[in-house]
Amino acid sequence: MDHFHYKNSELSCEDVAVSDIVASVGTPVYIYSTATIVRHYRVFADAFKGLDALVCFAVKANSNQAVLATLAREGAGADVVSEGELLRALKAGIPADKIVFSGVGKTPREMALGLKAGIKQFNIESEAELEALNTVAGEMGLVAPVSVRVNPDVDAKTHAKISTGKSENKFGIPWNRAHSIYARIKALPHVNGKGIDVHIGSQLTELEPFKLAFTKVVELVKELRAKGHDITHIDLGGGLGIPYELGKEAPPSPDAYGKMAREVLAGIDCSLIFEPGRLIVGNAGILVSEMVYEKTSGNKGFYIIDAAMNDLIRPAMYDAYHDIIPVSLAETQDKVSVDFVGPICESSDVFAKDRLTAPLKAGDLIAIKSAGAYGAVMSGTYNTRPLIAEVMVNGSDYAVVRKRQSLEELLSLDSVPDWLTD
Ligand code: LLP
Repeated sequence: MDHFHYKNSELSCEDVAVSDIVASVGTPVYIYSTATIVRHYRVFADAFKGLDALVCFAVKANSNQAVLATLAREGAGADVVSEGELLRALKAGIPADKIVFSGVGKTPREMALGLKAGIKQFNIESEAELEALNTVAGEMGLVAPVSVRVNPDVDAKTHAKISTGKSENKFGIPWNRAHSIYARIKALPHVNGKGIDVHIGSQLTELEPFKLAFTKVVELVKELRAKGHDITHIDLGGGLGIPYELGKEAPPSPDAYGKMAREVLAGIDCSLIFEPGRLIVGNAGILVSEMVYEKTSGNKGFYIIDAAMNDLIRPAMYDAYHDIIPVSLAETQDKVSVDFVGPICESSDVFAKDRLTAPLKAGDLIAIKSAGAYGAVMSGTYNTRPLIAEVMVNGSDYAVVRKRQSLEELLSLDSVPDWLTD
């Protein structure tokens, strides 16, 4: 459920008309709903009520500090994958002891920063990374808390580009090396092995792959304990999908996911960590854009809008479906079939192909839905298009939470060497 709805035929986010935001902030613009973020967080957290479970929001899905601060107030932790994400999470008020550090390529500098901050755990993904962390912690006179990310070789049945739990993916330690890496951890003085971590992919729409992976993790924890390792934490990653296309995808509810996890993990006596990203913020954001031109080619119609693949890359990168709705509802019931395209010089700069929509004209506003996760965070400046604004709504209030980059700011990042200016 989200808090975007029509009031008198005008799309609103909570109690604010989208067109009012556009009148002051312009387009394209990302708009986030606080009530939706909070609701999704609570529904997920409630699915684990009564258990020793920490929800660490996957910051990569949306790292705007206003989003992180909203979640911090709800008691969320964070799953970070870079120095930048760690700093954002800390700055937004997420306590260090609720932060886990994931990612296959943590640098010694990032490790030192995490150790200095006192984060909850490092999710280690290779032997080399373990050795490096031991060295860095040793230099600082500390012991690093680690969890080992294992690759369960489970098919997540999601898009190949967001699947991470098969043995051919770069993620995690091969299953058959989990024992030897734990033996190594025991031998190293500056790492303390606490747990097992698994994340098999994103936008999963079935429970079965999770169940398979979690079951394997439980078996592994039992085996490791039998060998004398004190495993106290299980990190089950993120990945629960959201409905992008109503009527087509029906991902399991957080409740059903929670029930399954409770069953599989019953009696294992571990603290649990979850790393949901998309589920919390995906449907809490829209990308609002203005139609610039209409164009036809043969019997094909194009609506050219002022947002482009650099602002939201998911359709171009994963052929992802995003619902597109008008900001002002049309009076007519007529529908046309068009491609919604951006202005970038790439054939993949397409938001929707052959999409049925109410007829629109230049100057009309549209909202691209489910853009709160992996939207603004994946944007770039291709074609020298500045980063766009992000706005957060809270009831009848709204605030710009990332200002639109000016062309001046963007251009000032380059410099031309002396030998070209003399
Ligand atoms: N934990 C780890 C270790 C991850 O790699 C990810 C996502 C998550 C948690 C959060 O997964 P979520 O709950 O959001 O599914 N850009 C792609 C998604 C990439 C996901 C990468 N890892 C997209 O736009 O679909």
